Amino acid sequence: MYFLSAICAVLVGCSAATTQSPTHEATNRTAVSLIGNDPISFFDLPVVTPVSPLLVSPSDVETIRRTLSRYSLAIDGKNFAALSLIFTSNAVANYSAPLNVLTPLTTIQSALEASLMPVTTQHLLGTQFIDILSPTSAFSVSYFTATHFGKDVYLGEIVTAYGQYQDMWIRQKNLNWKITHRNLLYMGPLIGNLSIFLG
Ligand SMILES: *[C@@H]1O[C@H](CO)[C@@H](O)[C@H](O)[C@H]1NC(C)=O
Ligand SMILES: *[C@@H]1O[C@H](CO)[C@@H](O)[C@H](O)[C@H]1NC(C)=O
Ligand SMILES: *[C@@H]1O[C@H](CO)[C@@H](O)[C@H](O)[C@H]1NC(C)=O
Repeated sequence: MYFLSAICAVLVGCSAATTQSPTHEATNRTAVSLIGNDPISFFDLPVVTPVSPLLVSPSDVETIRRTLSRYSLAIDGKNFAALSLIFTSNAVANYSAPLNVLTPLTTIQSALEASLMPVTTQHLLGTQFIDILSPTSAFSVSYFTATHFGKDVYLGEIVTAYGQYQDMWIRQKNLNWKITHRNLLYMGPLIGNLSIFLG
């Protein structure tokens, strides 16, 4: 039932089904990896990807968690080349307006570098949910608070963004995991002095 609920919620957003109780162990969750192009509603998120003890390998989860942490290190360190350790070369990332859909990796790198040029940043990851869907696919949700610090005339001015990354992952031949699809969803308005982005 969880499996069907997940498909239902992901493909057609029918939240009624997601309120049902699990009655069967999921036997084949491979098809859940069809998600990734569309964000999952905040309402459906708590139930869309149930914990699956048979599939959740602590080392896979930890590898994904480390890779998510490495994303913050890459962005805040302005080492955009290092994003190749996090995204597949053909990754699709919807960063919402104004960046919108960025693909492939080279565009993700250049667009993030350009948009963050006027500021320095701290990307703080918080609430995190990582679910292994199949031996080669996974889904994660990571809350973030991203603080952007103005430079020069804007020193001391900040903009804070509150949101979440919804990521679809694929396992690489070397057992690393990389993001194939990302949806960045804002969970509140940007707070602060937006002039800092004018440089
Ligand atoms: C799981 O579902 C996928 C997609 O429908 C199918 O290709 C695969 O053979 C199934 N695997 C098992 C173990 O049933
Ligand atoms: C990108 O994400 C935003 C926010 O969820 C959504 O409004 C928009 O339709 C998405 N764009 C595409 C092309 O999927
Ligand atoms: C933004 O920061 C600049 C520089 O400190 C300041 O002059 C301006 O009034 C600020 N704008 C807002 C909306 O706070």
